[in-house]
Amino acid sequence: MNGDARKTAEALTYLSGFGNEHSSEAVPGALPIGRNSPQRAPLGLYAEQLSGSAFTEPRAYNRRSWLYRIRPSAAHPAFARTDNGTLRTAPFTETAPDPNRLRWNPLPEPEPGTDFVRGLWTLGGNGDATQRTGTAVHLYHANSSMRRVFSDADGELLIVPERGGLLLRTEFGLLHAEPGHVALIPRGVRFRVELLDDVVRGYVCENYGAPFQLPELGPIGANGLANARDFRAPVAAYEDVEGPVEVVNKFCGNLWTATYDHSPLDVVAWHGTHLPYVYDLRRFNVLGSISYDHPDPSIFTVLTSPTDTPGLASVDCVVFAPRWLVGEDTFRPPYFHRNVMSEYMGLIEGAYDAKAEGFVPGGGSLHNMMSAHGPDRETFDRASAAELRPQKVDDGLAFMFETRWPVTLTAQAARAEHLQRAYDDVWQGLERHFGPLH
Ligand SMILES: [Fe+2]
Repeated sequence: MNGDARKTAEALTYLSGFGNEHSSEAVPGALPIGRNSPQRAPLGLYAEQLSGSAFTEPRAYNRRSWLYRIRPSAAHPAFARTDNGTLRTAPFTETAPDPNRLRWNPLPEPEPGTDFVRGLWTLGGNGDATQRTGTAVHLYHANSSMRRVFSDADGELLIVPERGGLLLRTEFGLLHAEPGHVALIPRGVRFRVELLDDVVRGYVCENYGAPFQLPELGPIGANGLANARDFRAPVAAYEDVEGPVEVVNKFCGNLWTATYDHSPLDVVAWHGTHLPYVYDLRRFNVLGSISYDHPDPSIFTVLTSPTDTPGLASVDCVVFAPRWLVGEDTFRPPYFHRNVMSEYMGLIEGAYDAKAEGFVPGGGSLHNMMSAHGPDRETFDRASAAELRPQKVDDGLAFMFETRWPVTLTAQAARAEHLQRAYDDVWQGLERHFGPLH
Protein backbone atom coordinates (compact mmCIF):
# COMPACT_ATOMS: atom_id res chain seq x y z
CA MET A 1 0.00 0.00 0.00
CA ASN A 2 1.15 3.50 -0.80
CA GLY A 3 1.09 5.31 2.58
CA ASP A 4 2.28 8.64 1.21
CA ALA A 5 -0.41 8.64 -1.46
CA ARG A 6 -3.08 7.89 1.14
CA LYS A 7 -1.88 10.75 3.34
CA THR A 8 -1.96 13.04 0.32
CA ALA A 9 -5.45 11.82 -0.65
CA GLU A 10 -6.91 12.30 2.80
CA ALA A 11 -5.57 15.86 3.11
CA LEU A 12 -7.06 17.11 -0.17
CA THR A 13 -9.32 20.12 -0.36
CA TYR A 14 -11.81 20.74 -3.17
CA LEU A 15 -13.93 23.29 -4.96
CA SER A 16 -17.66 22.69 -4.54
CA GLY A 17 -20.33 22.62 -7.25
CA PHE A 18 -21.36 21.01 -10.56
CA GLY A 19 -20.86 22.77 -13.88
CA ASN A 20 -19.41 25.86 -12.25
CA GLU A 21 -16.93 28.22 -13.81
CA HIS A 22 -14.26 27.29 -11.27
CA SER A 23 -10.76 28.72 -11.04
CA SER A 24 -7.68 27.74 -9.08
CA GLU A 25 -3.99 28.58 -8.91
CA ALA A 26 -1.27 26.54 -7.21
CA VAL A 27 1.06 29.56 -7.17
CA PRO A 28 -0.30 33.00 -6.32
CA GLY A 29 -0.43 35.22 -9.39
CA ALA A 30 -0.37 32.36 -11.91
CA LEU A 31 -3.91 33.01 -13.13
CA PRO A 32 -4.31 35.99 -15.47
CA ILE A 33 -6.95 38.49 -14.40
CA GLY A 34 -9.48 39.90 -16.84
CA ARG A 35 -8.34 38.01 -19.92
CA ASN A 36 -7.59 34.44 -20.97
CA SER A 37 -4.58 34.86 -23.18
CA PRO A 38 -2.45 37.88 -22.29
CA GLN A 39 0.53 38.77 -24.45
CA ARG A 40 2.72 37.14 -21.83
CA ALA A 41 0.99 34.83 -19.38
CA PRO A 42 1.97 35.26 -15.71
CA LEU A 43 5.12 33.61 -14.31
CA GLY A 44 6.34 32.56 -17.76
CA LEU A 45 3.51 30.05 -18.17
CA TYR A 46 1.89 29.06 -21.47
CA ALA A 47 -1.85 29.69 -21.91
CA GLU A 48 -3.88 26.92 -23.58
CA GLN A 49 -7.58 26.28 -24.09
CA LEU A 50 -9.04 22.78 -23.72
CA SER A 51 -12.49 22.47 -25.29
CA GLY A 52 -14.90 19.69 -24.37
CA SER A 53 -17.67 21.02 -26.61
CA ALA A 54 -17.86 22.86 -29.90
CA PHE A 55 -17.14 26.55 -29.41
CA THR A 56 -20.69 27.50 -30.32
CA GLU A 57 -22.74 25.05 -28.26
CA PRO A 58 -25.29 26.75 -25.98
CA ARG A 59 -24.04 27.87 -22.60
CA ALA A 60 -25.85 25.03 -20.79
CA TYR A 61 -23.78 22.50 -22.80
CA ASN A 62 -20.58 24.46 -23.35
CA ARG A 63 -17.47 23.04 -21.67
CA ARG A 64 -14.02 24.52 -21.89
CA SER A 65 -11.13 25.34 -19.62
CA TRP A 66 -8.08 27.56 -19.83
CA LEU A 67 -4.86 26.02 -18.57
CA TYR A 68 -1.69 27.89 -17.57
CA ARG A 69 1.14 25.40 -17.82
CA ILE A 70 4.91 25.07 -17.77
CA ARG A 71 4.95 23.78 -21.34
CA PRO A 72 2.13 23.81 -23.88
CA SER A 73 0.53 20.44 -24.60
CA ALA A 74 1.77 20.77 -28.18
CA ALA A 75 5.35 20.13 -27.00
CA HIS A 76 5.44 16.39 -27.54
CA PRO A 77 6.97 13.86 -29.94
CA ALA A 78 4.97 11.64 -32.29
CA PHE A 79 2.71 8.94 -30.86
CA ALA A 80 3.14 5.33 -31.92
CA ARG A 81 0.66 2.47 -31.61
CA THR A 82 0.87 0.24 -28.58
CA ASP A 83 -1.00 -2.86 -27.44
CA ASN A 84 -4.67 -2.29 -26.58
CA GLY A 85 -4.59 -5.13 -24.06
CA THR A 86 -8.15 -5.93 -22.96
CA LEU A 87 -9.50 -2.50 -23.85
CA ARG A 88 -12.04 -2.33 -26.69
CA THR A 89 -13.96 0.49 -28.31
CA ALA A 90 -17.19 1.03 -30.25
CA PRO A 91 -18.31 0.04 -32.79
CA PHE A 92 -18.49 -3.39 -31.13
CA THR A 93 -18.55 -6.06 -33.81
CA GLU A 94 -16.87 -9.08 -32.20
CA THR A 95 -20.16 -10.77 -31.25
CA ALA A 96 -23.81 -10.71 -32.28
CA PRO A 97 -25.95 -8.60 -29.94
CA ASP A 98 -27.33 -11.02 -27.35
CA PRO A 99 -30.98 -10.93 -26.19
CA ASN A 100 -30.21 -13.12 -23.19
CA ARG A 101 -30.03 -11.95 -19.62
CA LEU A 102 -26.40 -12.17 -18.62
CA ARG A 103 -24.49 -11.98 -15.39
CA TRP A 104 -20.82 -12.09 -14.49
CA ASN A 105 -18.82 -12.77 -11.35
CA PRO A 106 -16.00 -10.33 -10.53
CA LEU A 107 -12.89 -10.19 -12.68
CA PRO A 108 -10.14 -12.58 -11.63
CA GLU A 109 -7.20 -11.16 -9.70
CA PRO A 110 -4.87 -9.09 -11.89
CA GLU A 111 -1.44 -10.28 -12.98
CA PRO A 112 1.39 -8.73 -10.94
CA GLY A 113 2.35 -5.27 -12.16
CA THR A 114 -1.08 -4.42 -13.63
CA ASP A 115 -1.73 -0.68 -13.60
CA PHE A 116 -5.11 1.01 -14.16
CA VAL A 117 -4.75 1.27 -17.93
CA ARG A 118 -3.51 -2.30 -18.35
CA GLY A 119 -6.27 -3.42 -15.97
CA LEU A 120 -9.13 -2.00 -18.06
CA TRP A 121 -11.26 -4.86 -19.39
CA THR A 122 -14.07 -4.02 -21.76
CA LEU A 123 -17.40 -5.81 -21.37
CA GLY A 124 -19.14 -4.19 -24.32
CA GLY A 125 -20.97 -1.13 -25.48
CA ASN A 126 -22.70 0.62 -28.32
CA GLY A 127 -22.47 3.52 -30.74
CA ASP A 128 -19.30 4.60 -32.46
CA ALA A 129 -16.45 6.44 -30.78
CA THR A 130 -15.47 8.14 -34.04
CA GLN A 131 -19.01 9.56 -34.27
CA ARG A 132 -19.00 10.53 -30.57
CA THR A 133 -22.09 8.41 -29.92
CA GLY A 134 -22.78 5.66 -27.43
CA THR A 135 -21.00 4.23 -24.47
CA ALA A 136 -18.70 1.44 -23.34
CA VAL A 137 -18.82 -0.56 -20.13
CA HIS A 138 -15.42 -1.46 -18.73
CA LEU A 139 -14.27 -3.09 -15.54
CA TYR A 140 -10.85 -2.56 -14.05
CA HIS A 141 -8.59 -4.37 -11.65
CA ALA A 142 -5.07 -3.28 -10.80
CA ASN A 143 -2.33 -3.88 -8.28
CA SER A 144 0.23 -1.32 -9.37
CA SER A 145 0.18 2.48 -9.48
CA MET A 146 0.58 4.06 -12.89
CA ARG A 147 3.92 5.61 -13.68
CA ARG A 148 2.64 6.68 -17.06
CA VAL A 149 -0.01 9.26 -17.85
CA PHE A 150 -3.24 8.46 -19.70
CA SER A 151 -5.82 10.44 -21.62
CA ASP A 152 -8.90 9.39 -23.52
CA ALA A 153 -9.83 11.37 -26.63
CA ASP A 154 -12.78 9.04 -27.25
CA GLY A 155 -14.88 10.04 -24.27
CA GLU A 156 -15.18 10.94 -20.65
CA LEU A 157 -14.53 8.26 -18.03
CA LEU A 158 -16.88 7.78 -15.10
CA ILE A 159 -14.91 5.62 -12.66
CA VAL A 160 -16.87 3.66 -10.04
CA PRO A 161 -14.51 2.10 -7.49
CA GLU A 162 -15.78 -1.09 -5.87
CA ARG A 163 -12.65 -2.20 -4.02
CA GLY A 164 -9.71 -0.05 -2.91
CA GLY A 165 -9.07 3.67 -3.02
CA LEU A 166 -7.64 5.69 -5.90
CA LEU A 167 -5.62 8.88 -6.00
CA LEU A 168 -6.22 10.53 -9.38
CA ARG A 169 -3.51 12.99 -10.36
CA THR A 170 -4.99 15.06 -13.16
CA GLU A 171 -3.97 18.14 -15.10
CA PHE A 172 -6.37 20.08 -12.87
CA GLY A 173 -5.17 18.69 -9.54
CA LEU A 174 -5.79 15.68 -7.34
CA LEU A 175 -8.94 13.70 -6.57
CA HIS A 176 -9.50 10.97 -3.99
CA ALA A 177 -12.02 8.27 -4.90
CA GLU A 178 -13.04 5.39 -2.62
CA PRO A 179 -15.69 2.72 -3.08
CA GLY A 180 -19.02 4.55 -2.89
CA HIS A 181 -17.67 7.49 -4.86
CA VAL A 182 -17.75 8.15 -8.60
CA ALA A 183 -14.96 10.11 -10.26
CA LEU A 184 -15.19 11.71 -13.67
CA ILE A 185 -12.26 12.41 -15.98
CA PRO A 186 -13.39 14.59 -18.91
CA ARG A 187 -12.53 13.78 -22.50
CA GLY A 188 -8.88 14.46 -23.26
CA VAL A 189 -7.77 15.30 -19.72
CA ARG A 190 -4.49 13.64 -18.75
CA PHE A 191 -4.30 11.75 -15.50
CA ARG A 192 -2.46 9.11 -13.55
CA VAL A 193 -4.05 6.60 -11.16
CA GLU A 194 -2.18 5.79 -7.96
CA LEU A 195 -3.40 2.98 -5.73
CA LEU A 196 -4.27 3.58 -2.09
CA ASP A 197 -4.69 -0.14 -1.44
CA ASP A 198 -2.83 -3.23 -2.63
CA VAL A 199 -5.52 -4.23 -5.12
CA VAL A 200 -8.21 -2.04 -6.61
CA ARG A 201 -11.23 -2.97 -8.64
CA GLY A 202 -14.28 -1.27 -10.10
CA TYR A 203 -16.29 -0.19 -13.10
CA VAL A 204 -15.92 2.49 -15.77
CA CYS A 205 -18.54 4.04 -18.01
CA GLU A 206 -16.80 5.51 -21.04
CA ASN A 207 -19.21 8.05 -22.45
CA TYR A 208 -18.54 8.88 -26.09
CA GLY A 209 -21.52 11.24 -26.28
CA ALA A 210 -22.45 14.54 -24.68
CA PRO A 211 -20.79 15.11 -21.31
CA PHE A 212 -22.70 13.94 -18.26
CA GLN A 213 -24.89 16.57 -16.69
CA LEU A 214 -27.31 16.63 -13.80
CA PRO A 215 -30.83 15.52 -14.75
CA GLU A 216 -33.60 18.10 -14.90
CA LEU A 217 -35.69 18.04 -11.73
CA GLY A 218 -39.10 19.04 -13.14
CA PRO A 219 -41.81 18.98 -10.48
CA ILE A 220 -39.29 17.74 -7.86
CA GLY A 221 -38.24 21.37 -7.56
CA ALA A 222 -34.96 23.15 -7.03
CA ASN A 223 -33.32 20.51 -4.81
CA GLY A 224 -32.89 16.78 -4.64
CA LEU A 225 -31.28 13.74 -6.26
CA ALA A 226 -27.56 14.56 -6.65
CA ASN A 227 -27.19 18.07 -5.31
CA ALA A 228 -24.81 20.24 -7.31
CA ARG A 229 -22.82 21.41 -4.30
CA ASP A 230 -21.75 17.85 -3.45
CA PHE A 231 -19.68 17.53 -6.63
CA ARG A 232 -16.07 18.33 -5.84
CA ALA A 233 -13.47 19.59 -8.30
CA PRO A 234 -9.74 19.62 -7.56
CA VAL A 235 -7.63 22.63 -6.72
CA ALA A 236 -4.67 23.28 -8.99
CA ALA A 237 -1.60 21.13 -8.32
CA TYR A 238 1.25 20.54 -10.73
CA GLU A 239 4.27 18.33 -11.29
CA ASP A 240 7.50 20.06 -12.29
CA VAL A 241 9.23 16.96 -13.65
CA GLU A 242 11.93 17.03 -16.31
CA GLY A 243 12.77 13.65 -17.75
CA PRO A 244 11.10 10.84 -19.61
CA VAL A 245 7.37 10.38 -18.93
CA GLU A 246 5.30 7.94 -20.96
CA VAL A 247 1.97 9.34 -22.09
CA VAL A 248 -0.70 6.98 -23.42
CA ASN A 249 -3.43 8.42 -25.58
CA LYS A 250 -6.61 6.49 -26.40
CA PHE A 251 -7.73 7.68 -29.82
CA CYS A 252 -10.54 6.15 -31.90
CA GLY A 253 -10.21 2.86 -30.13
CA ASN A 254 -6.47 2.38 -30.10
CA LEU A 255 -3.79 3.13 -27.58
CA TRP A 256 -0.93 5.33 -28.73
CA THR A 257 2.19 6.08 -26.73
CA ALA A 258 4.85 8.78 -26.67
CA THR A 259 7.69 9.52 -24.32
CA TYR A 260 7.67 13.17 -23.29
CA ASP A 261 10.73 14.91 -21.86
CA HIS A 262 8.56 16.35 -19.07
CA SER A 263 5.37 15.59 -17.17
CA PRO A 264 2.24 16.92 -18.89
CA LEU A 265 0.63 17.27 -15.44
CA ASP A 266 2.31 20.70 -15.31
CA VAL A 267 -0.73 22.99 -15.06
CA VAL A 268 -0.01 25.66 -12.44
CA ALA A 269 -3.36 27.45 -12.70
CA TRP A 270 -6.63 27.01 -14.55
CA HIS A 271 -10.17 28.24 -14.87
CA GLY A 272 -13.17 26.84 -16.69
CA THR A 273 -15.94 24.28 -16.87
CA HIS A 274 -14.32 21.20 -18.50
CA LEU A 275 -13.17 19.68 -15.23
CA PRO A 276 -12.71 16.41 -13.39
CA TYR A 277 -14.79 15.85 -10.28
CA VAL A 278 -15.66 13.34 -7.61
CA TYR A 279 -19.05 12.65 -6.00
CA ASP A 280 -19.98 10.57 -2.96
CA LEU A 281 -22.99 8.43 -3.91
CA ARG A 282 -24.01 8.31 -0.23
CA ARG A 283 -24.88 11.99 -0.50
CA PHE A 284 -27.53 11.18 -3.11
CA ASN A 285 -30.90 12.51 -1.95
CA VAL A 286 -33.07 9.48 -2.63
CA LEU A 287 -36.64 10.33 -3.56
CA GLY A 288 -39.39 7.76 -3.94
CA SER A 289 -42.99 6.87 -3.36
CA ILE A 290 -44.59 7.79 -0.05
CA SER A 291 -47.96 6.36 -1.06
CA TYR A 292 -47.93 3.29 -3.32
CA ASP A 293 -46.05 1.60 -6.20
CA HIS A 294 -42.35 1.36 -6.96
CA PRO A 295 -41.24 4.42 -8.94
CA ASP A 296 -39.45 4.01 -12.26
CA PRO A 297 -35.70 3.89 -11.61
CA SER A 298 -35.16 7.16 -13.47
CA ILE A 299 -35.92 8.75 -10.10
CA PHE A 300 -32.45 7.51 -9.03
CA THR A 301 -30.51 9.20 -11.88
CA VAL A 302 -27.26 10.75 -10.70
CA LEU A 303 -25.91 11.92 -14.08
CA THR A 304 -27.26 11.84 -17.61
CA SER A 305 -25.71 12.18 -21.05
CA PRO A 306 -28.46 13.78 -23.15
CA THR A 307 -29.17 13.29 -26.83
CA ASP A 308 -30.99 15.45 -29.36
CA THR A 309 -34.27 13.79 -28.29
CA PRO A 310 -35.57 15.30 -25.03
CA GLY A 311 -35.63 12.72 -22.23
CA LEU A 312 -33.77 10.08 -24.23
CA ALA A 313 -30.35 9.64 -22.64
CA SER A 314 -27.34 8.25 -24.43
CA VAL A 315 -26.44 6.85 -21.03
CA ASP A 316 -27.60 7.49 -17.48
CA CYS A 317 -25.73 6.69 -14.29
CA VAL A 318 -28.26 5.57 -11.70
CA VAL A 319 -27.68 4.67 -8.04
CA PHE A 320 -29.67 2.37 -5.75
CA ALA A 321 -28.71 3.93 -2.43
CA PRO A 322 -30.00 3.25 1.08
CA ARG A 323 -33.62 4.37 1.40
CA TRP A 324 -36.89 3.77 3.19
CA LEU A 325 -39.67 1.71 1.59
CA VAL A 326 -43.10 2.68 2.83
CA GLY A 327 -45.44 1.90 -0.10
CA GLU A 328 -48.83 0.57 0.94
CA ASP A 329 -50.33 -2.40 -0.93
CA THR A 330 -47.19 -2.41 -3.04
CA PHE A 331 -44.76 -4.98 -4.35
CA ARG A 332 -41.76 -3.10 -3.07
CA PRO A 333 -38.74 -4.55 -4.94
CA PRO A 334 -38.25 -3.58 -8.59
CA TYR A 335 -41.15 -4.87 -10.66
CA PHE A 336 -40.96 -7.32 -13.57
CA HIS A 337 -40.30 -5.34 -16.72
CA ARG A 338 -39.14 -5.15 -20.30
CA ASN A 339 -37.52 -1.94 -21.34
CA VAL A 340 -36.44 -0.28 -24.57
CA MET A 341 -33.32 0.93 -22.77
CA SER A 342 -30.48 -1.49 -22.00
CA GLU A 343 -29.21 -1.87 -18.47
CA TYR A 344 -25.81 -2.82 -17.11
CA MET A 345 -25.86 -3.12 -13.33
CA GLY A 346 -23.01 -3.41 -10.87
CA LEU A 347 -22.76 -3.75 -7.13
CA ILE A 348 -20.40 -1.66 -5.03
CA GLU A 349 -21.17 -3.28 -1.70
CA GLY A 350 -23.69 -5.47 0.09
CA ALA A 351 -26.72 -6.85 -1.71
CA TYR A 352 -29.40 -5.64 -4.12
CA ASP A 353 -33.06 -5.85 -3.20
CA ALA A 354 -34.25 -7.63 -6.37
CA LYS A 355 -31.78 -10.50 -6.20
CA ALA A 356 -31.40 -12.87 -3.30
CA GLU A 357 -28.04 -14.22 -4.43
CA GLY A 358 -25.56 -14.45 -7.29
CA PHE A 359 -25.26 -10.69 -7.86
CA VAL A 360 -22.10 -9.88 -5.95
CA PRO A 361 -19.85 -6.84 -5.46
CA GLY A 362 -17.53 -6.55 -8.42
CA GLY A 363 -19.87 -8.59 -10.60
CA GLY A 364 -22.45 -7.26 -12.99
CA SER A 365 -25.55 -8.03 -15.01
CA LEU A 366 -26.72 -7.01 -18.45
CA HIS A 367 -30.37 -6.81 -19.41
CA ASN A 368 -30.45 -5.71 -23.01
CA MET A 369 -33.28 -3.98 -24.85
CA MET A 370 -36.64 -5.71 -24.26
CA SER A 371 -35.17 -8.61 -22.28
CA ALA A 372 -37.62 -9.68 -19.58
CA HIS A 373 -36.29 -9.44 -16.05
CA GLY A 374 -37.10 -8.47 -12.51
CA PRO A 375 -36.98 -10.06 -9.10
CA ASP A 376 -35.82 -13.63 -8.76
CA ARG A 377 -38.20 -16.25 -7.45
CA GLU A 378 -37.02 -16.05 -3.85
CA THR A 379 -37.38 -12.27 -3.80
CA PHE A 380 -40.82 -12.46 -5.41
CA ASP A 381 -42.06 -14.98 -2.86
CA ARG A 382 -40.69 -13.02 0.06
CA ALA A 383 -41.87 -9.58 -1.07
CA SER A 384 -45.35 -10.85 -2.00
CA ALA A 385 -45.87 -12.13 1.53
CA ALA A 386 -44.00 -9.47 3.51
CA GLU A 387 -45.74 -7.45 6.16
CA LEU A 388 -45.68 -3.90 4.79
CA ARG A 389 -44.18 -1.98 7.65
CA PRO A 390 -41.84 0.92 6.89
CA GLN A 391 -38.58 -0.77 5.96
CA LYS A 392 -35.08 0.64 5.66
CA VAL A 393 -33.11 -0.81 2.73
CA ASP A 394 -29.55 -0.10 3.74
CA ASP A 395 -27.59 -3.25 3.08
CA GLY A 396 -26.08 -2.36 -0.29
CA LEU A 397 -25.03 0.16 -2.88
CA ALA A 398 -25.79 -0.78 -6.49
CA PHE A 399 -25.64 1.26 -9.67
CA MET A 400 -26.79 1.05 -13.26
CA PHE A 401 -25.50 2.37 -16.56
CA GLU A 402 -28.69 2.60 -18.62
CA THR A 403 -28.21 3.27 -22.30
CA ARG A 404 -30.40 3.95 -25.32
CA TRP A 405 -28.89 1.20 -27.48
CA PRO A 406 -28.25 -2.51 -26.84
CA VAL A 407 -24.87 -3.35 -25.37
CA THR A 408 -22.93 -5.66 -27.68
CA LEU A 409 -20.40 -7.79 -25.86
CA THR A 410 -16.72 -8.09 -26.57
CA ALA A 411 -15.51 -11.59 -27.34
CA GLN A 412 -13.72 -11.72 -24.00
CA ALA A 413 -16.96 -10.92 -22.12
CA ALA A 414 -19.01 -13.46 -24.10
CA ARG A 415 -16.46 -16.21 -23.45
CA ALA A 416 -15.34 -15.19 -19.96
CA GLU A 417 -14.77 -17.87 -17.35
CA HIS A 418 -16.57 -15.60 -14.91
CA LEU A 419 -19.76 -15.40 -17.02
CA GLN A 420 -22.49 -17.19 -15.07
CA ARG A 421 -23.84 -19.98 -17.28
CA ALA A 422 -27.12 -20.50 -15.44
CA TYR A 423 -28.36 -16.98 -14.74
CA ASP A 424 -31.75 -17.75 -16.29
CA ASP A 425 -32.38 -20.18 -13.46
CA VAL A 426 -33.11 -17.35 -11.02
CA TRP A 427 -36.47 -16.97 -12.78
CA GLN A 428 -37.22 -20.69 -12.82
CA GLY A 429 -39.94 -21.97 -10.54
CA LEU A 430 -42.06 -18.84 -10.64
CA GLU A 431 -45.25 -20.80 -10.17
CA ARG A 432 -48.64 -20.04 -11.60
CA HIS A 433 -51.00 -18.61 -9.02
CA PHE A 434 -53.81 -17.72 -11.41
CA GLY A 435 -57.14 -18.90 -10.19
CA PRO A 436 -60.22 -17.61 -12.04
CA LEU A 437 -63.16 -16.90 -9.83
CA HIS A 438 -66.03 -19.33 -10.35
FE1 LIG B 1 -34.25 -3.44 -15.34
